[in-house]
Amino acid sequence: MIKVNPHVARMVPYGILNMQPPAGKRLISLAQNESMLPPSPQALKLAAESLNGLAPYSDPDWLDLKTAIAEIHALDPAMIICGAGSMELIAGLAKCYLDRERSAVTSEYGYAFFKVASQLVQAPFLAAAEVDYQVSVDNLLEAVRDDTSVVFVANPGNPTGTLLPKSELQRLRSGLPRDVLLVIDEAYGEFADLSHNDTAGRWTFDMVASGNTVVLRTFSKAYGLAGARVGWGCFPPEVAAEMRKVNNPGSIATSSLAAAARVMRDQSYMREHCTMTSGIAARFTDNVRTLGLKVPQSFTNFVLIEFASPEEVARIDTALRAEGIFMRGMGGYGLSNCLRATIANEQDMNSAFSILREQTGQTQTTISPT
Ligand SMILES: Cc1ncc(COP(=O)(O)O)c(C=O)c1O
Repeated sequence: MIKVNPHVARMVPYGILNMQPPAGKRLISLAQNESMLPPSPQALKLAAESLNGLAPYSDPDWLDLKTAIAEIHALDPAMIICGAGSMELIAGLAKCYLDRERSAVTSEYGYAFFKVASQLVQAPFLAAAEVDYQVSVDNLLEAVRDDTSVVFVANPGNPTGTLLPKSELQRLRSGLPRDVLLVIDEAYGEFADLSHNDTAGRWTFDMVASGNTVVLRTFSKAYGLAGARVGWGCFPPEVAAEMRKVNNPGSIATSSLAAAARVMRDQSYMREHCTMTSGIAARFTDNVRTLGLKVPQSFTNFVLIEFASPEEVARIDTALRAEGIFMRGMGGYGLSNCLRATIANEQDMNSAFSILREQTGQTQTTISPT
């Protein structure tokens, strides 16, 4: 009888959501935090053309993509490491810097994959309480132990959508021991850049110069390439060298590399998409708040909606699904009184809002003009 490793036996598989709409209803997926728009047509064209060159393995040094990222973000290409989604980079960091004797710390509602990556290498995993859905630097610093090797912070956070300001992130870095690696996961950074008037996330990348901070980004959200599986990060050179030992060479398909390099070079398309998403998110948030529901201010392409109870969530989720609308239950994060809604086009968000309004008995509320 084959026996799985005990630590793997204790893990829980990724919860695949059944998103089958009822007969006659169109699927409205608000569950996965993907982009509402497809990638730019030029990127799709390049990806399709690159299918002719699939015989050799893909470039293990991601040269063209690294060049595009380095140009746009004014970074040294030697500090850029790419992966099959930022998930591969998070897992790689866990392989390099965590083990049974070296713990990871994150915040209470930190992105779920931080825990999975830590479990894979059997590292103790500690979560610091958040305050009103906001990462607390004080609580993170208090949670750090002598054996802590990595602190993971998603900024903006998933599933909360909230953002730690620059001053707080810098306070976190300076409060951590120098030998603790701070991983700032900016999967939604391009959406947050808008509100900073900062189109290249410059100040967090500058933090990498300290030698003990990593910043991760992805093409899955603002760039609309979730299915291509491309993530990247800015790494201190010593950390980059370790990452090259543990991640698979050629883990990103040739067609994905071509599409990612193209969308990186088309910043205006990406920014337009982020601006459009933020506008719809703001209107949806205002509308939902008129129903008396709490929605933390989100700097991403999704919002977290707090309901009165888990029973209320179950009732409203059932009503949404009956119309083909799938939001994401947050029980896995200990937030079973919340649903997370990815921002889709205005029409779909208005459909979702109408159901919320009906189900909360607020039939008189009007939808904000668009
Ligand atoms: C905070 C955060 N980090 C990383 C990821 C993973 O992204 P990728 O598609 O690049 O693996 C996600 C995806 O939802 C996320 O929310």
